[in-house]
Amino acid sequence: MHDFRSFIQLLKDRGEMDHVSREVERTQELAGVMSKIEARRRAYYIEHVKGARFPVVGGLYNKLERFGLALERDDAETFTHEAFDGCIEAAKASPIEPVTVTSGPVQENVITGPAIDLADLPVPKFFELDSGPFITGAIGITRDHDSGELNIGIYRTLILGKNTFVINASSMSDLRRIYAGWEKSGERMPIAMALGVPPAMLIASSCKLAPNACEYEVAGSLAGEPIKLVKCQDSDLLVPADAEIVIEGTVDFSQRVENLLGEFAGQYGPENAPVTQVNTITHRNDALYYSIVAGRNPEHNTLGSVAIFGVRRSIIAAIRAAVPDARDIDVLLDPALGTLAHVTISIDKQNDARPGEIIEKAFAAGDGIFPVSRITKRIIIVDEDIDVHDPIDVNWAIWNRAATAEKFVVIPNIESWELERAAKAGQLSVRIGIDATMDLEDVDKLIRPIIPGVDQIRIEDYIDKQGDLT
Ligand SMILES: Cc1cc2nc3c(=O)[nH]c(=O)nc-3n(C[C@H](O)[C@H](O)[C@H](O)COP(=O)(O)O)c2cc1C
Repeated sequence: MHDFRSFIQLLKDRGEMDHVSREVERTQELAGVMSKIEARRRAYYIEHVKGARFPVVGGLYNKLERFGLALERDDAETFTHEAFDGCIEAAKASPIEPVTVTSGPVQENVITGPAIDLADLPVPKFFELDSGPFITGAIGITRDHDSGELNIGIYRTLILGKNTFVINASSMSDLRRIYAGWEKSGERMPIAMALGVPPAMLIASSCKLAPNACEYEVAGSLAGEPIKLVKCQDSDLLVPADAEIVIEGTVDFSQRVENLLGEFAGQYGPENAPVTQVNTITHRNDALYYSIVAGRNPEHNTLGSVAIFGVRRSIIAAIRAAVPDARDIDVLLDPALGTLAHVTISIDKQNDARPGEIIEKAFAAGDGIFPVSRITKRIIIVDEDIDVHDPIDVNWAIWNRAATAEKFVVIPNIESWELERAAKAGQLSVRIGIDATMDLEDVDKLIRPIIPGVDQIRIEDYIDKQGDLT
């Protein structure tokens, strides 16, 4: 299984990494260079960033094949979302516990006190209206205040000064819940951000796991061997022993910072999170700083697809529980369309009132951090002869089977999640339900033209064999 450095070496050996030795300004020039290289689906190694002590690498996972390569899959070149999702589900089902070692390369250098300066890291400001420079490729490690369980995710982090930053937790993250637990306790919360971790660790950190499941164990299973961990310098948090850089801090809940950042579906998103005081930075000799171009860009979106698998699964499970007569369910959640899901449900309709009931029940499904209505903009109900996974077939049903205003439902004032930027005061937005099923009285009128018996015809039995014509 590849670690961070061996994977970079592999990309170099395959000729998939661009090297920039010319000095680059840390401001938006750096973001611009990264994004131009990554748009070509290549990785980058940027050696000199003005005023920074470390080089930048990134673009490592800007196409799906790279995950196949990182996981050493035989089908790497043709790796699909389905195969990737399958790997993750298999890893969740057979976790491998990490091992704790007494020392690791990530602690070869230890920086504390006044020597700490986050400006040593080559962190760009990505977008015009971003609140400042964002660390984007770090995994954040915390412990739940009450259970003591470790939790890990990827969280974008805004640098405020030499030794302060803000680690953003979306409303759907476990980190948001963990912040709340520590804040309630009145204690300061230890947190560590690790950069340049093994590919399996980065993938597992993007996964939406049950609150008591541990990302280190899923990463071990993906890697086929336990992840090696070392204890932090200042807390009992455990971090990957061969990470490139670890930033240790404590969260101070008395100060919160509102901030804005370019989001994964091509819009800005507001965040509000407590300030973290950095206590220690540890790093390997010749450490590399790993960065992901934020926003609707290939690496962010390819890695983000891991989180999307989990969200999609949660929506399907919630709707299945609430709508037992659902035949097939499709959840289209694609950054190309925005931050909200579009759900299509097929049914074998027995009465004309049922699609409306299903729209209501499906929007009301889910609980906790996953109410379906919060993250789903539109629900379409179709007859069972429509392929819910084919957007053209679904649109065909809308335009050809729905002819009364009652079949288009507009539900106002639904609480949306923070990434629906168009939502109004109180984060309220609209939801759409469409009944694209045939009215029962029209079933005979709306029969689809078919050629009877076509499925029984074996065309090989009809076409003359090559050579018969001569
Ligand atoms: C590049 C990238 C950036 C992300 N940024 C954030 C972020 O700033 N805040 C957040 O809560 N989730 C972010 N996510 C999604 C989380 O990492 C993901 O949902 C993870 O499962 C959250 O873990 P948790 O629920 O255990 O806290 C990001 C994902 C990726 C791939």
